[in-house]
Amino acid sequence: MKIHLIAAARPNFMKIAPLYHALKKEDWAEPVIVHTGQHYDLNMSDAFFQDLSLPEPHIHLGIGSGTHAEQTGKVMMAYEKVLLEHRPDLIIVVGDVNSTVACALAATKVTYALPYHSPFSIHNSHGLRPLIAHLEAGLRSFDRTMPEEINRIVTDTLADMLWTPSPDGDENLLREGISCEKIVRVGNIMIDSLEMLRSRIEAQVVYQEYHLAKREYGLITLHRPSNVDSPEVLLSICDVLIKISEKVPLIFPVHPRTKKNLHQFRIMTKFEKAENILLLEPLSYVRFMNLVFNCKFAITDSGGIQEETTYLGIPCLTMRPNTERPITTKRGTNRLCNLSNLESTVTKLLSQTQNAYNPPEMWDGKTAARVVKAINICR
Ligand code: UD1
Repeated sequence: MKIHLIAAARPNFMKIAPLYHALKKEDWAEPVIVHTGQHYDLNMSDAFFQDLSLPEPHIHLGIGSGTHAEQTGKVMMAYEKVLLEHRPDLIIVVGDVNSTVACALAATKVTYALPYHSPFSIHNSHGLRPLIAHLEAGLRSFDRTMPEEINRIVTDTLADMLWTPSPDGDENLLREGISCEKIVRVGNIMIDSLEMLRSRIEAQVVYQEYHLAKREYGLITLHRPSNVDSPEVLLSICDVLIKISEKVPLIFPVHPRTKKNLHQFRIMTKFEKAENILLLEPLSYVRFMNLVFNCKFAITDSGGIQEETTYLGIPCLTMRPNTERPITTKRGTNRLCNLSNLESTVTKLLSQTQNAYNPPEMWDGKTAARVVKAINICR
């Protein structure tokens, strides 16, 4: 069974890695990594492949940056050619980035030229196409101003197999009329990568390199357009972070999108002058996770960090009005914050100790095995 694993942007790599390693062990599976090239900097892509022991991508589409339509369109055109040439039986898309929806769309509309025989393919009006699976299906923020929400809804509509991380995912899909036979709860694949690399993550003391002490610093990541694309909003966030840094040191690996805007809006110098905020280039997976494991709290707008901190029991302040991962606020340590309450929330949690609690069900490092089982059942 030829299986394409679609990887595109930084948060995808830790989702395909455990699955690639698990499928590699099966004699019936031939996993093929397709990198669309949405993220291309060494520290946004290659460093992750190395940490996660992934081989060089077997197929690289080299798409790069662009507007949403450009990026989505270019991925569709390039991936259609790959589909016609390689004829995978199954394609697995992960997460919610533009490449996720683009590859799912290309695979839905492609028709393999005959003669073609595969017990796994699906009939469309002209012939056969590959099966499409979405890993991390069913998440909804109910905020259609987020590009990722559109990507999630469209991808889930197209997928033949929908693998969800939590019960809310199943509920959302059923409410949207997706048949229950297509839905399998498999758990959170990101936790597989975390557990796979836990010993290497724990062996490091990255925070010490920056003269920080364990549990005595805050970790910042920001890259959502709603936070970083407007000069007024970005400047206000910067001002609040500077105030917070007067109480506790902050370390901030800066996403390329944010870095570009900090320079363009002439905010970078103000940030650089703040003595208690360390600005860094994006870090590799293991180094970044070492900072997560040892921080007092994280301030973020990332989806993955809401989940990783929930799993580890670390307070997470999410700079968004909503989350597609409600389990992190209901069962975990995640709190939604905004410009007016961020500083007071940090002040409160600096005086609190964290209570122990159990992570959500099926966030246990065994999700890849459950996905392999789900594929095996449909063979
Ligand atoms: C994308 C995803 C977002 C995900 C994020 C993780 C979409 C719509 N967005 O957002 O869901 O949370 O990745 O990082 O798919 N750039 C570089 N080097 C790179 C990649 C990007 O310099 O390797 C710069 C470019 O200026 C580019 C900008 O960052 O235009 C934005 O990149 P893009 O992939 O379009 O979106 P992200 O903001 O990274």
